[in-house]
Amino acid sequence: MHWVFKTLLVLIVLVGAAALGINWYLSTSDAREPSRVAYLEHCVGCHGVGLEGSETGLPLIAPKLAYGDAVPKLMASITEQHEYLPADLSPSMVKALALYIAERRQQLPSIVESHRHQIPEGVVQSQYHNFTVELVAELTSGPYAIEPLPDGRILVSEKVRGLSVVDAQGIQGELVEGTPRIWSEIIHVRGSYVGLGQMLDVELHPEFLTNGWIYFSHADRCQLDCGTPWPRSMVRVVRGRLADNQWVDQEVIWSVHKDNYTVVPDGVAGGRLAFDGNGDLYVTVGGKSTYDNLHVMDTPYGKIHRVHGDGRIPTDNPFWASDDENTAASTRNTVWSYGHRTTQGLSTDPRTGLIWSTEMGPRGGDEVNKIVGGGNYGWPLYTNGLDYDAEPISIGEDLGLDFPLSETILPVVDFTPAPSLSNFVFHSGDQFPAWENDLLVGSLRAQTLFRIRIENDEVVEQERLLTQFGRIRDVEMGFDGLVYVLLEHGEGGSLVRLAPL
Ligand code: HEC
Repeated sequence: MHWVFKTLLVLIVLVGAAALGINWYLSTSDAREPSRVAYLEHCVGCHGVGLEGSETGLPLIAPKLAYGDAVPKLMASITEQHEYLPADLSPSMVKALALYIAERRQQLPSIVESHRHQIPEGVVQSQYHNFTVELVAELTSGPYAIEPLPDGRILVSEKVRGLSVVDAQGIQGELVEGTPRIWSEIIHVRGSYVGLGQMLDVELHPEFLTNGWIYFSHADRCQLDCGTPWPRSMVRVVRGRLADNQWVDQEVIWSVHKDNYTVVPDGVAGGRLAFDGNGDLYVTVGGKSTYDNLHVMDTPYGKIHRVHGDGRIPTDNPFWASDDENTAASTRNTVWSYGHRTTQGLSTDPRTGLIWSTEMGPRGGDEVNKIVGGGNYGWPLYTNGLDYDAEPISIGEDLGLDFPLSETILPVVDFTPAPSLSNFVFHSGDQFPAWENDLLVGSLRAQTLFRIRIENDEVVEQERLLTQFGRIRDVEMGFDGLVYVLLEHGEGGSLVRLAPL
């Protein structure tokens, strides 16, 4: 065999082995998670593998704990209720153990397990309304968003394929033709797509019935045209109309200079869209792991941006500056709020027309936020969460960020442990009247649909409408008043709806 072929063969084998190794490492990482390891080392003898307790230690999965079950209470129990604790338990490991117990108490599945889904049969009972969950359609690839149309059809954003339409009979049609390119050459890690160039959110203009505008966001991908031999991507928003199955009249509504495109995969891109009561459009851009830029207005990351519905930039945006004060790549003119981590949800309160968001924290610290123009949301200096390696989040301090907590906007709802919040909707319509204006919030890892009632910016009720359900990517109100929920699992998805009895 020629040496070139031999070398190639060796290279192919090496790359294959490396890919297998990485996949094995990631799929077994739950078992190596440090707080689990510490629990098995220091606590299991008295509290048991399943936290069921023993003669020498209390059960930690009991419905009620003697000393309280909120994370701060659990931390206090660990340090105060034991005469002997290993000296090497650092304060952050105590917090990680408290999170481990809290997560186990909530029976959070592992990320791999969370890709299993189960649609309940029969009646689901809840505080105000009993309902059934109806399967509308099985989807052909992993979805990111849905948007019901007035005629009963539903737009589906498929992460690695593009836009498609589910008809009123629940049949998913061919891909809409003529949209910007969506990239499918993507690898699959622990049930999730990892790649650059994905399809993101889809949203109708508030006056869709008269103007027909459909907005969607996607990760626009470039390579040589970005001046690099490897691909990079960045959120971009376009609008267009649907004529038969063709995407027509396209206009770019929000985009940034190619210098801002990054190699960080699109799973943390954000791209959620919402219109406020004045018809202005908001788009979320995730931190994309470039933490040092979250408080720099010239970059798009970790921000929520605002433009008019036609893409013009409002000159009253909080960081707006005239062209001669701006660099070509600066994004400051569209920045509305900043210091966000991964904003996976965005929705408008129909009572006020104001924008709210859901934000994924690290381990713990998922948030529901009311969005205020010019607001600093604190990440990565402040969070109630902890890093995945059981260490405190020190990124903000390491970067030299310095501002008091009082200058940040605190979450209206904090979720620690973190269910991995995804998108949400304010309930409206007459099918579930007792839920009027409540937030219906999806979650990925926790597989739970939450109902949260907020009055005067305070949570007054929180209920789990569905648990052990599936990874919920999106929740939307249909024009028929039913609640549409989008599940993603592995390489497919399910579209279901909640119907009252
Ligand atoms: C030698 C046995 C023993 C070990 C080891 C031990 N615990 Fe305990 N733990 C107990 C006992 C006994 C109590 C109840 C103390 C009391 O009521 O005064 C308790 C209480 C607790 C509580 C409060 C339970 C409640 O109902 O409020 C938590 C939480 C807890 N332990 C966590 C841990 C963690 C985490 C570890 C490992 C770092 C650990 N324990 C190691 C025996 C143990």
